[in-house]
Amino acid sequence: MKLKNVISKRSYKTVYVEDGKIIKLFVKGYPKTNVFNEALNQTRMEGSEINVPKVIEVVEIDGCWAFISEEIKGKTLEQLMIENPDKLDEYLDIFIDTQILMSKQNSFLLNPLAHRMSRRIARSELRATTRYDFQIRLEEMEQFHEVVHGDYNPSNIIIDDNGKVWVIDWAHVSEGNAAADVAKTYLWFNLHDQNELSEKYLKRYVEKSVIEEKFIRNWMPLVAAWILDTALEEKKSYLRNIVKQEIMR
Ligand SMILES: Nc1ncnc2c1ncn2[C@@H]1O[C@H](COP(=O)(O)OP(=O)(O)OP(=O)(O)O)[C@@H](O)[C@H]1O
Ligand SMILES: [Mg+2]
Repeated sequence: MKLKNVISKRSYKTVYVEDGKIIKLFVKGYPKTNVFNEALNQTRMEGSEINVPKVIEVVEIDGCWAFISEEIKGKTLEQLMIENPDKLDEYLDIFIDTQILMSKQNSFLLNPLAHRMSRRIARSELRATTRYDFQIRLEEMEQFHEVVHGDYNPSNIIIDDNGKVWVIDWAHVSEGNAAADVAKTYLWFNLHDQNELSEKYLKRYVEKSVIEEKFIRNWMPLVAAWILDTALEEKKSYLRNIVKQEIMR
């Protein structure tokens, strides 16, 4: 397979588009289980009410693992928000309605988010007492059986040429509390210097859903602790401040 058309590049993987297919090619040595896990997660979500690109195959190309899915022809919500700022409210509604619908899909085959967060928080830089407090809070999450995308942001939503909404990038999907997903999206906007949009997103999400704002804000210190060690160095102080915020009881 000749791979030429790069659409995104990270240190550990490159995304290509060829002949109506999207190829996510991981670097040599990248854990095979992570590649199969992402493909499996995406496949599980294919059967839901959310439009998800079909996984075609998992393959080895010159000693590197890749997984291939169908290409959705359209634009990401991130691109559209930049191109048509006057339509921001409309796009935000699509973004939130899709996130709410996604959270209600069947989650029983997905890995528990509490376990994923717990492992990361356990080896984080936080003080032992904070880690302990957070681990206790995570136990509450085990009561929730909602779909958490884990990286729900406008670059992972595609609007196709017929206006249909698709959700991509299912590497981090798990079963847990929808409020944690909303807290993560809120932090994502702030980490990408979109502070005004993050507040607007949160306000609109609360209006549309049954989740209270206080409940979402309570998840922010835990989510910040979860993503702290993988965040860019210049973003860590912002996350450390969130971690320190009092949890409102
Ligand atoms: N099935 C698809 N159809 C069309 N475009 C896609 C598809 N999958 C990915 N893309 C494009 O490639 C970009 C990167 O893909 P993806 O979001 O899966 O990985 P990533 O953002 O690089 O990964 P991560 O967020 O895990 O670091 C997307 O923002 C989108 O523009
Ligand atoms: Mg992405």
